[in-house]
Amino acid sequence: MTRFLDQVVLVTGSASGIGRATALAFAGEGAHVVVADVAEEGGHATVELVRKAGGEGLFIPCDVAQPDQLQQLVNEIVRVYGRLDVAINNAGVGGVFARTADVPAEEYHRVVNVNLGGVFFGMQCQIRQMLRQGGGRIVNVASLAGLRGFANCSIYTATKHAVVGLTKASSAEYARKNIRINAVCPAYTRSPLFEQLLYLNHSYEEKFKLNIPMRRYGQPADTAQAILWLCDLHNTFVTGMALPIDGGMMAV
Ligand SMILES: NC(=O)c1ccc[n+]([C@@H]2O[C@H](COP(=O)([O-])OP(=O)(O)OC[C@H]3O[C@@H](n4cnc5c(N)ncnc54)[C@H](O)[C@@H]3O)[C@@H](O)[C@H]2O)c1
Repeated sequence: MTRFLDQVVLVTGSASGIGRATALAFAGEGAHVVVADVAEEGGHATVELVRKAGGEGLFIPCDVAQPDQLQQLVNEIVRVYGRLDVAINNAGVGGVFARTADVPAEEYHRVVNVNLGGVFFGMQCQIRQMLRQGGGRIVNVASLAGLRGFANCSIYTATKHAVVGLTKASSAEYARKNIRINAVCPAYTRSPLFEQLLYLNHSYEEKFKLNIPMRRYGQPADTAQAILWLCDLHNTFVTGMALPIDGGMMAV
């Protein structure tokens, strides 16, 4: 399993869920994985899982809502490993489940600062480093809510549309600089974030499934595998794409 042998891979928000599954998948393919998250316990636990599986990882605490911490994160990665081959901007928060008129202003700022600011300012630092070293690959974790609207999640939906827009615009800017930038758009994936939503209202469990042609929820590993494919060095001509990982939802 050497698809990413000795490549340096950053995964933000990898203390749990999709980020953790992605960190483990890269480590299983020989990468040096940098786990970055605000959740220190979970971050260390991911590195422990990486090592138990025979991989190599490092935890660096980082709040992606703080641009200076994103710069420090890239600086530290370059200090330790000398380069940054792949960056996965995955850290995200769900936000309150409420109609637009009822969303508190502080909730707007919290969700925008993490879901949009974290990706925008993160990409700035990552791209500058990738330009210095002659290339790299970035995948932003958007959502199916980046491709269509979801009622009662307007701020979340807006930030994920913005992440898709950022991905498209920046992919064109760096297409001739050997930097490929793509997004994944998962839906209904059984991570702690999604479990919390089901926990809040048990009736959602069966109801949501009826929207999915495959009639099952996604697993974090489903998204992780799509991310690895987008970052594969043999995958040379795909950039600016927003790939749904949704059991067929966008097709109907
Ligand atoms: N689970 C789903 O159904 C689903 C669907 C679409 C998109 N997504 C997206 O996938 C990504 C991962 O979510 P998940 O479902 O694995 O949820 P999760 O809650 O398991 O993981 C999110 C991770 O992000 C971290 N995080 C939150 N705020 C942070 C911050 N300010 N700085 C650094 N880390 C921070 C959390 O500590 C956590 O480890 C998110 O961007 C989410 O919007 C998830």
